[in-house]
Amino acid sequence: MSNNSISKLQASEINELNRQMEARLNSLDNQDTLRAAMRYSVMAGGKRIRPLIVFATCASFQTPISEAVFAVAGSLEFIHTYSLIHDDLPEMDNDELRRGKPTNHKVYGQAMAVLAGDALLTEAFEWLTEAGISPVDNLKLVHKLAKAAGPKGMVDGQSRDILGEKQQLTLEQLKVLHAGKTGALITYAFEAGGILAGVSDQHQALLREFGLLFGLAFQIYDDILDVTSTQEKMGKAVHKDSLEHKNTYPALLGLNEAKRSLEHTLSQAGNVLKQLNDLGVQTELFDELLGYFKI
Ligand code: IPE
Ligand code: IPE
Ligand code: MG
Ligand code: MG
Ligand code: MG
Repeated sequence: MSNNSISKLQASEINELNRQMEARLNSLDNQDTLRAAMRYSVMAGGKRIRPLIVFATCASFQTPISEAVFAVAGSLEFIHTYSLIHDDLPEMDNDELRRGKPTNHKVYGQAMAVLAGDALLTEAFEWLTEAGISPVDNLKLVHKLAKAAGPKGMVDGQSRDILGEKQQLTLEQLKVLHAGKTGALITYAFEAGGILAGVSDQHQALLREFGLLFGLAFQIYDDILDVTSTQEKMGKAVHKDSLEHKNTYPALLGLNEAKRSLEHTLSQAGNVLKQLNDLGVQTELFDELLGYFKI
């Protein structure tokens, strides 16, 4: 397992994850339009970064990618996809393109988009509890995922994001917003990998610390790309944040300072990896994950 690389994980495990997610959605015995709407956004693509983090964390601790690991990764991707469907709604960010395709509500209408999101959120917990994970670990995972997704995590961050459109936040407030809307689910991905791998408390605390920094970096980078990238590369509209009066790193600090903040956050993350490395953890996959950020 030590000769694993992120591209190998991507080639093997992400393909298998896509297969499992699709099979699970296809086998739902529910109303046809609801099933189609759920399937549409999940199978539209996406980078699958959160599942990749789960796989990379397990692999870093020599834990095989089992049915349980797929359930953790897939349920997380379902919840992330639900957050995107709702994020794009007219009353939220009002977007028409996602993952290179028309947004869910553009195809299925707003009511069905809300319901497809609700359905992915709850289906995620059903999957997570069906994978034969030990009761103790399963309870930990369900608790952490609910906390990361809900009013102490992603939904809290999204509320701050929406209400923030009417006011300029301080950098400290923006960090809290980003930690919620994006950091919480990304941090969960690392912690869930740690739980599946049965790591020590000391390792788990460092994984969490790394996750918080990776999550913050991820949203700063998303904010930067909204200014510097193109719709073709991103598969979603760009230059939207200023239009929607969003609080972002570039809006608050300017593009150059935003890039410096990203570099600083990544170097802090690198320091956490060094601590893990000093404890004997193989950190190559985590190092490779940091390669996602191209400043
Ligand atoms: C988009 O997430 C929303 C943010 C948290 C910035 P991703 O950039 O992971 O989107 P997909 O899953 O690849 O579509
Ligand atoms: C979204 O942040 C975070 C979510 C919880 C979905 P953004 O609103 O910046 O994500 P994009 O740019 O639309 O993907
Ligand atoms: Mg948003
Ligand atoms: Mg958005
Ligand atoms: Mg964005």
